[in-house]
Amino acid sequence: MIFQLCYTSTAARDMQREDLVELLRISRAKNEASGLTGLLLFSAERFVQLLEGDEEAVRTLYARICEDNRHHEITTIFEREVEARDCPDWSMGFQALPESEWLEFPNPDGTEKGLRPMLEAMGRARAILQSVRERGLDPERDV
Ligand SMILES: Cc1cc2nc3c(=O)[nH]c(=O)nc-3n(C[C@H](O)[C@H](O)[C@H](O)COP(=O)(O)O)c2cc1C
Repeated sequence: MIFQLCYTSTAARDMQREDLVELLRISRAKNEASGLTGLLLFSAERFVQLLEGDEEAVRTLYARICEDNRHHEITTIFEREVEARDCPDWSMGFQALPESEWLEFPNPDGTEKGLRPMLEAMGRARAILQSVRERGLDPERDV
């Protein structure tokens, strides 16, 4: 079984193109070495990332990502076991999405707590991850 974890976070500062290039260079090399794959989406200072692979490797990486001061307001959207990877070919696919395609996630530190906003966030995250997977990575939206 493959373990998947998806979270959303807010960039701590303005992410320049070079910042994203560097983040992805390291991430892709490390993920490849530990057999992890996934997809990182970025828009309007928000990240959504899907990590997938061996459960322990995913949890170890997520713990390190949570300590990373380049982002904050980190909220897990879902964790699940799946039969097969959704992004087998991407050590970390990346797409910067136009705001018009972006999702409004519940404010993680706001008043919107509880099951319903989390289920809505999960549904929207799955829908947008799936639409990117189906149409493939657009080089125009990579860095
Ligand atoms: C939004 C975001 C996504 C990240 N994704 C990954 C990733 O997929 N793989 C990875 O190894 N590091 C990722 N990182 C970077 C890690 O937090 C960490 O800096 C990196 O793995 C280097 O860790 P090390 O200094 O312990 O070697 C991400 C960081 C941020 C802010």
